[in-house]
Amino acid sequence: MAKALIIGCGGVGSVAIHKCCQNSEVFEEICIASRTKSKCDELKAKLEKTTKTKITTAKVDANQVDELVSLIQRVKPDIVMNLALPYQDLTIMEACLATKTHYMDTANYEPEDTAHFEYSWQWAYRDAFKKAGVTALLGSGFDPGVTSVFTAYALKHHFDEIETIDILDCNGGDHGYPFATNFNPEINIREVSAKGKYWENGAWVETEPMEIKRVYDFPEVGVKDMYLMHHEEIESLALNVPGIKRIRFFMTFGQSYLTHLKCLENVGMTSIEPIEFQGQQIVPLQFLKAVLPDPASLGPRTKGKTNIGCIFTGRKDGKEKTYYIYNVCDHEESYKEVGSQAISYTTGVPAMIGAMMVVTGKWQKPGVYNMEEFDPDPFMAELSKWGLPWVECHAPKLVD
Ligand SMILES: NC(=O)c1ccc[n+]([C@@H]2O[C@H](COP(=O)([O-])OP(=O)(O)OC[C@H]3O[C@@H](n4cnc5c(N)ncnc54)[C@H](OP(=O)(O)O)[C@@H]3O)[C@@H](O)[C@H]2O)c1
Repeated sequence: MAKALIIGCGGVGSVAIHKCCQNSEVFEEICIASRTKSKCDELKAKLEKTTKTKITTAKVDANQVDELVSLIQRVKPDIVMNLALPYQDLTIMEACLATKTHYMDTANYEPEDTAHFEYSWQWAYRDAFKKAGVTALLGSGFDPGVTSVFTAYALKHHFDEIETIDILDCNGGDHGYPFATNFNPEINIREVSAKGKYWENGAWVETEPMEIKRVYDFPEVGVKDMYLMHHEEIESLALNVPGIKRIRFFMTFGQSYLTHLKCLENVGMTSIEPIEFQGQQIVPLQFLKAVLPDPASLGPRTKGKTNIGCIFTGRKDGKEKTYYIYNVCDHEESYKEVGSQAISYTTGVPAMIGAMMVVTGKWQKPGVYNMEEFDPDPFMAELSKWGLPWVECHAPKLVD
C-alpha cells in the first residue's frame, strides 16, 4: 500500500491518475498537484466516486524547489511521479533528494531556453541518490519507457547479443484537424524540428530534420511514411546494451502535418527566442501553443490506432536472429476508458506501472536508473493487465 504525489495533471498525468485509481490495492492514496489546481480538483471530483484510492489535491509551482519540499513534507509520499514538463525534472529531483523520496518521470530534462535534451543533467545525480538511499526511475512512458523494457526483455529472453535496434513509433490516428499535436505542442514541436541523430559504431551520426524517410507497413495500422529522429532512449540504450552497433528511431508523420510544420518554421512561429510584441516579450512557440488545439481536446475526435515497438537483429546460440515486439493501442477505446487519446494512454499507463515497480520494491535500488537497467519481467507482466498488451513477430520485415 503506497502513497504517490503526482505532479502535473495534463494529458499524460490524467491517464496515470485514472490508472492509479484503478490500482487502489497498490495506490492507497494519491495527491494530485499542479500549477492549475482547478484541473486537479475536476479530476478528483470525477474519479473519487469510482475508486477506493483516497485523492487529495494541491497547488504547486514545480519550478520552485522550496515549494516542492514543503509539499512533499506535508504529503509524505512514498514516490513523486513527475508528469509535468521536462523543464521541471531537476527541481523535482532536488526536492526528492532533500526529502529522501523516490522519484520517477517520463521525459529527460531539457532547459527551457535551449531545445536540447540529454541525460547528462539527470545522470549527474547518480551518487547523490545513492547516498540518499532513494531510487530515481527515468523515462517511464512508452518511448522512452516500454521501448526500453522491450529491449531488456529481448536481451534477456531472445538474444545473446543485440546488434541493431529500430524503434518505430507510428500514430495512425486521425483527429480531423489539419494541424495539431498529440501531446504538449511546445515539447512536441521542439522535438520534431530538431536535427535527426542515430547511434552507429560507437558514435552519433547527425542528419537534417526529417532528412531520412522510410515507408513501413505497420501491423493493424497499414503503410505509413516514417522519418528518422533523435530520441532520448537512444542515448541510454547505447550505454546499456553491450556490443550494440546501431540504434535508430523513426516516427510517422502525415504530409499535412509536415507541410504545416515547415510553413510555421519558415515564418518563425516555432522559434524559442523571445521577441518584443506590443510592449511585451513573447516566445513565438509558446504563443503558437496557445492557438493550437489543446491535446486533451483531441480525445473525442481521434479515430484509428497507434503501433509502437522495436525491431531487433542480433545473434542467439550462434545463429542470426530478428525479433519485433510492439503494442497496438486504439484511440477510441482509450477515450472510452479514461477520456484521453492513445498517445496520452500509452504514456500514462507505463508511468503508473513504473511507479508501482518502485513502491512495491520490485525496482528499488538507490541511484538514478533508466528503465532497461531493471529486470523487465515484472513490468512486462503488468503491461497487458493495465491495457497495453504486446505482440511478438519472429520474422519481421526489416527497415533498410
Ligand atoms: N515517454 C513518453 O512516451 C512520452 C510521451 C508523451 C509525453 N511525454 C512527456 O509527458 C510529460 C507530460 O506531457 P503532457 O502531454 O501531459 O503535457 P501537458 O498536457 O501540457 O501537461 C503538463 C502538466 O504539467 C503542469 N505543469 C507545467 N508546468 C508546471 C509547473 N511549473 N508547476 C507545476 N505544474 C506544471 C501543467 O499545468 P497547467 O495545467 O497549469 O499547464 C499540466 O498539468 C512531458 O514531460 C512529455 O514530454 C512522454
